[in-house]
Amino acid sequence: MEGFALIKPNEEYVSQIKAYREEFRDCLDWMHGSGGLMQIADPEEWLRYVALCENPETVPDHKPSSSQFIYVRLADQKIVGMINIRHTHTEPFATWGGHVGYSVCPSERRKGYATQMLRAVLPECKKLGLDRVLLTAGDENVASVKTIVANGGVLEGRVMSPKHHVIVGRYWIEIE
Ligand SMILES: CC(C)(COP(=O)(O)OP(=O)(O)OC[C@H]1O[C@@H](n2cnc3c(N)ncnc32)[C@H](O)[C@@H]1OP(=O)(O)O)[C@@H](O)C(=O)NCCC(=O)NCCS
Repeated sequence: MEGFALIKPNEEYVSQIKAYREEFRDCLDWMHGSGGLMQIADPEEWLRYVALCENPETVPDHKPSSSQFIYVRLADQKIVGMINIRHTHTEPFATWGGHVGYSVCPSERRKGYATQMLRAVLPECKKLGLDRVLLTAGDENVASVKTIVANGGVLEGRVMSPKHHVIVGRYWIEIE
């Protein structure tokens, strides 16, 4: 969408990364798709961490490698959302985790940003060799379900997420 950019996080956005994290501090929502930013308070350390995660040879803790993006509103350079693509789809994580996770900062919700950010990331998934991607969301997360369905997500079934202790729907998006 015009006026927004999906970009790899870098040093130029250190203060905005900090602000994004702070917006979530008083909010009960999980900061999905942020490459562990909730656990890493120092933005520069987080930048180093997400760089390590991008390479299968350096990704810590035997996790799937992943690409981190920030979704920036160009008018004020604010990070309004974060989205992460896992490159591979391996068990046990694959059953309930999916390829793509995302969040929008609490003050910027209900403006269509998640829907447009997910749309913007699909070509990046394709570049990584993914022809279709799995996303998961609990039925109670109406906003996320709508975001996925608006981008062509088709419900395959439901499974228990051991991480979040909820039943999640598994949705596949075919990428053209
Ligand atoms: C889920 C989330 C990313 C949605 O972000 P958003 O930018 O507000 O979403 P959008 O504005 O694109 O809205 C998508 C749809 O959901 C609806 N919606 C948004 N928030 C809603 C809410 N709290 N309750 C009901 N519907 C909601 C919108 O009206 C829109 O519906 P429409 O297409 O029929 O108009 C955001 O709420 C969030 O970050 N939540 C915490 C992290 C999370 O749950 N991530 C998803 C992991 S599965």
